[in-house]
Amino acid sequence: MIIREFKRPDIKRVLEIETAAFEDPYPPSILIDIYNLGAGFLVAQQDNMVVGYIIFWIRYEDEGHIISLAVDKRYRRKKVGSELVDYAINIFAKCHVRDIKLEVRVGNKDARKFYRELGFEEKEFLENYYEDGEDAVIMKKSF
Ligand SMILES: CC(C)(COP(=O)(O)OP(=O)(O)OC[C@H]1O[C@@H](n2cnc3c(N)ncnc32)[C@H](O)[C@@H]1OP(=O)(O)O)[C@@H](O)C(=O)NCCC(=O)NCCS
Repeated sequence: MIIREFKRPDIKRVLEIETAAFEDPYPPSILIDIYNLGAGFLVAQQDNMVVGYIIFWIRYEDEGHIISLAVDKRYRRKKVGSELVDYAINIFAKCHVRDIKLEVRVGNKDARKFYRELGFEEKEFLENYYEDGEDAVIMKKSF
């Protein structure tokens, strides 16, 4: 597997993975806008195909934020997600960013466990954070 920077032709696969992974996927135009604004955007490639992606950026100069992460269902539990997060952390470190934050749905138990395994801690709950009224958990990692 290789991790590399997102390129525009990857958008079709990213959207396929995003749509299959989330009930409320980002609209394609927003993903492109986020990319054009300079967010970090990495993809994992295996079998000559994009199998996962991570989008992240730096907020308030010193806080990294993971915006979205998803792995193709057929390639889960093979450390693709872990490698994408590790790679993003390396980029944050190069930018002297040592605090990372993300929001995840309270009901997304698998992702919460995934992030806990990577050293993220659940810090706070945000009520009605999502459009359907579900709460979010804020998870943070400092390194
Ligand atoms: C969360 C997600 C990105 C994890 O990707 P992945 O490549 O399957 O994760 P990894 O293989 O790196 O998992 C590392 C560890 O996290 C934990 N973990 C990952 N997925 C898990 C699951 N479904 N259930 C329980 N634990 C899980 C395990 O401890 C796992 O190690 P193990 O397989 O040796 O037991 C993937 O399940 C996904 O795309 N989910 C849908 C989208 C989403 O929820 N994104 C996160 C919110 S932004």
